[in-house]
Amino acid sequence: MAEISTSSTMPKGDSPELLRQIMTDSVGGFSAVHRAHGDVVAYWKGGVPIVFVVGPEFARDMLADKETYYIRAGHPGSKGSAQRSFMNGMFGVNGNVHTQYRRMYMPALKRGSVETQFEAMNRLADDVVSGWREHQTRDLVRDMKNLAMSVTGRMLFGLSDLTAARHVEAYFDHWVMLNHQTLFASILPVDDLPNPYPELLDASEEIRNRLIELLKEKRKAAPAAQSEFDLLATLLSVQERGLIGEQEVIGQLHSLFNAAHHTTSYALTWTLFLIAQHPAIARRLVDEIQTNAPSDDSSLDQLNRCEHLERVIRESLRLIGPLVYMSREATCDAPLGRYQVPRGTVVLVSQYNTHHRAADFANPETFNPDRWKTMGPCPYSYLPFGQGTRMCMGAPFALQFMKVVVAMITRRFRLTIAPGTTINRRSSLTLGPAGPLPVLIHRQDGLYATSAVHGQVLEMVTLPTADRTAIAA
Ligand code: HEM
Repeated sequence: MAEISTSSTMPKGDSPELLRQIMTDSVGGFSAVHRAHGDVVAYWKGGVPIVFVVGPEFARDMLADKETYYIRAGHPGSKGSAQRSFMNGMFGVNGNVHTQYRRMYMPALKRGSVETQFEAMNRLADDVVSGWREHQTRDLVRDMKNLAMSVTGRMLFGLSDLTAARHVEAYFDHWVMLNHQTLFASILPVDDLPNPYPELLDASEEIRNRLIELLKEKRKAAPAAQSEFDLLATLLSVQERGLIGEQEVIGQLHSLFNAAHHTTSYALTWTLFLIAQHPAIARRLVDEIQTNAPSDDSSLDQLNRCEHLERVIRESLRLIGPLVYMSREATCDAPLGRYQVPRGTVVLVSQYNTHHRAADFANPETFNPDRWKTMGPCPYSYLPFGQGTRMCMGAPFALQFMKVVVAMITRRFRLTIAPGTTINRRSSLTLGPAGPLPVLIHRQDGLYATSAVHGQVLEMVTLPTADRTAIAA
């Protein structure tokens, strides 16, 4: 059996049953492990250590060097299966192959390129938000999925018809949960865990068929529709040169396409929820946007002058970010903070718990954008986009997109969460609301007030009380 050789001994998990919750609710499960054991604990299965870590000491080692720790993001699937082709995507490849894909996508995703796309981004967001009317009740989850799909699908993948793309999206949430459950069923030392591998294979086939339709449509479209910012056009041109095959195109498309819309839609949903529920913060946001970037024609420079907006987004990504954890496997005996772990060790870092660590963030469950006025950069304590050599390539796009949408909606409307709504979470690799999130749309009059809500959301954020807010307003 492999040994964890350490200068001091790594704590050993002695209650595997605690891990069961991770299967259905990763935020609840990882939080239970953290409460029971602190920032690091090792469980064992069949001679392989599975280490749960929280915080910068451990995140640094596992994220900084992509050769020492390989990504391990899903079940490899059997030969020829759709699941196997997905492992050719960004979250399955390592080494040189990974480096080459990063180089390939960088021109489209780097900050300078994204900035030149500002007007197109504004226009596409406006196409969706201009359908909103005062006095409507809307489902924020559905609307943000629609908005994120519309903007990322057109801008990053050059799609004019989103029909196939929407079908992929409809299956993807389910696939993420099944992929998460299959991964953990194989690594957790818990008896009788349900393993939904057959369902995962079916969901993967379904998604691959939709991706094939999407590719057919794309190949039919005129080349004029393709721009230098189009990731799918880039992939297809590399395929035409014979450098990659169809399975690689499908795998890459699966990871890029879903990484783009799924994360941004949840990030926007939680951000708009938090703004609506924090009247004082929301009113400052309205004032700032009216002063610095008052119209939809405001420039990116004007929008970038909105420092409070920037901090609101940063804080929202800390408090309820769209991703819960990152997973790696040690390729050799490797350092992990003050410990040394053997080759083959699986390491899971919880971003969620890292972001809720009182040692780094005072009153961690409070939504306090102002904390970022005084906090310096904290690379491995703040991980919404990961860190190190595999850090999110879409971060500039996502941050600019979030600014555009939050500013646009705040200029036009005040959102109120429908009072009495129960907001539970659906958490696996990603974290979103478990059901619809109904919001009432008002003209922007600044009269924000917290609504009473119920459910697991109250474990993740301490909201101002409705009464206190109503009096303050
Ligand atoms: C708020 C939105 C987003 C969040 C929170 C987010 C978060 C992340 C995180 C945490 C990782 C690192 C995963 C790991 O190390 O295991 C990652 C990787 C990645 N993200 Fe994002 N992401 C977002 C939006 C986007 C968008 C819009 C794109 C555009 C295509 C994108 C493309 C990627 C790619 C290509 C990688 C893989 C990088 C690599 O392995 O080298 N992401 N993202």
